Parts: sequence; C-alpha cells; structure tokens
Amino acid sequence: MDETTIAKGNRRVVAVDGPAGAGKGAVCRGAASRFGLAYLETGALYRAVGLISLRSGIGNPDALTRAAGEMPFAFRPVGGGEYAAFLGDEEVTLALRAEEVGQAGSRVAAMPGVRRALLGFQRRYGQDRDTILDGRDVGSVVWPDADLKIFLTASLEERAKRRALELQARGETVIVENLIARMLERDQRDAERDHAPMCAAPGAILVDTTSLTLAQSREKVNNLIAALFA
Ligand code: DC
Repeated sequence: MDETTIAKGNRRVVAVDGPAGAGKGAVCRGAASRFGLAYLETGALYRAVGLISLRSGIGNPDALTRAAGEMPFAFRPVGGGEYAAFLGDEEVTLALRAEEVGQAGSRVAAMPGVRRALLGFQRRYGQDRDTILDGRDVGSVVWPDADLKIFLTASLEERAKRRALELQARGETVIVENLIARMLERDQRDAERDHAPMCAAPGAILVDTTSLTLAQSREKVNNLIAALFA
C-alpha cells in the first residue's frame, strides 16, 4: 500500500518540527496531556533503527530498511504525561536517549528506504484520535495536510546548554564544546540530506524558544492549539 494514502479523516493533527534540543518533546507532552491528544515522538523511530544498527553492526541501507519495516516498535503513554518506547518486550526509552544513538538515528534517517519504511507507522499512529507528532519532516512529508504546523527552534548554544543539563542530570559527563560540535553536525546532516530534510513546512508557525522558559514555550504552543480547537 502507498502509505501516503492513509487518510487523516476527521481527526486533527498537529505537526511540530525543529532541531534537536529545541524542547519539542517537553512541549508536545505538555500539549498532549492538556488537550488529550495522542503523541508520537517520531525521532524515537529513527533512534530505534539507529540502536538496531549500533547493536547489530548493520550499516547497509537495504538491510536497515528491512529492519525498520519489521521492528516491533511501540510508543506508549505510561502515566503522568510520560511515554515509554519498546522494541518488542524490551523497554528502550533510556537507551534511545543516548547521544550516540541520536547520531546513529540521524545517519539512518538519511536513507530514503528507512524513511519510507517508517512512514506508515507515523500516519497510522493515533488512529482516529486527535494527534500531535514531533520530528523533522512531520509538517512537510508525514502530514503535509496537518491542521497546525509549528517549527520550534532555539539557538544552537541554548539547545546545547539544555541538552548538557539533561545529560548531567542522568549522571553523564559533558563537555559543552563537544556537544555543540555534535549538535551542529547532526543539524547539518538533518537539514542538508536529499530526502525529507528538516525544514519549516509551508504555513508553519515559527516559535523561537531561545529566551523562553519551558513553561513559556508550552504556553505559546498550547495557545496555538487552543485556537485550533476553539
Ligand atoms: O528528534 P530526535 O533528536 O530524537 O531525532 C533523532 C534523529 O532522527 C534526528 O537527528 C533526525 C532523525 N529524524 C528524522 O529524520 N525525521 C524525523 N521526523 C524525526 C527524527
């Protein structure tokens, strides 16, 4: 089946794209609990393929495309506005957050076959519920017919600072300069690839969170969603 023909139907879809560390996850989780939306962090799918690639040593695009199509991935709410990612019975939420898995996710995300293999899951997700998804190409490729498109961004330095705090809270040692260099490399790979590069989709509303707190970022996005549902 051509996955792009999976219809949106009557449900409303909110697409939130932007670079790593802009606060997409926290903002979307907040919106999902506030408005009762299904939520999918699409980056977790690419990270899961990246994790499979790192664990198995497979780097071949055809083999990874097959793995992406067959992987038993699930993304489930676990209460308190939190979500957990599973590969079969194994919970991989924490494993997926590792910096090297993000890099591996970004590398496999440049493979057109892998992207195609993950499209159906993204379009089916939420089924007939109002849904919010975050990623890099949700508004441009996954749901070009989304009801609301937001491009959430922040300066590279601010994003690196936030990611450093997150990693430090998990007990990881962080050298901020290295983090900035790795984030820049990932941003460039995600924005410059040939297939479905990260971009603000036509009609997307730009939300720059550089000088906003998380609460302020959430409020801004929630106001946009509230206007859609009014
Ligand atoms: O959002 P994230 O940092 O978890 O995403 C990990 C990588 O996955 C990111 O560097 C690029 C890729 N990705 C993508 O290409 N398209 C998406 N919709 C989401 C993520």
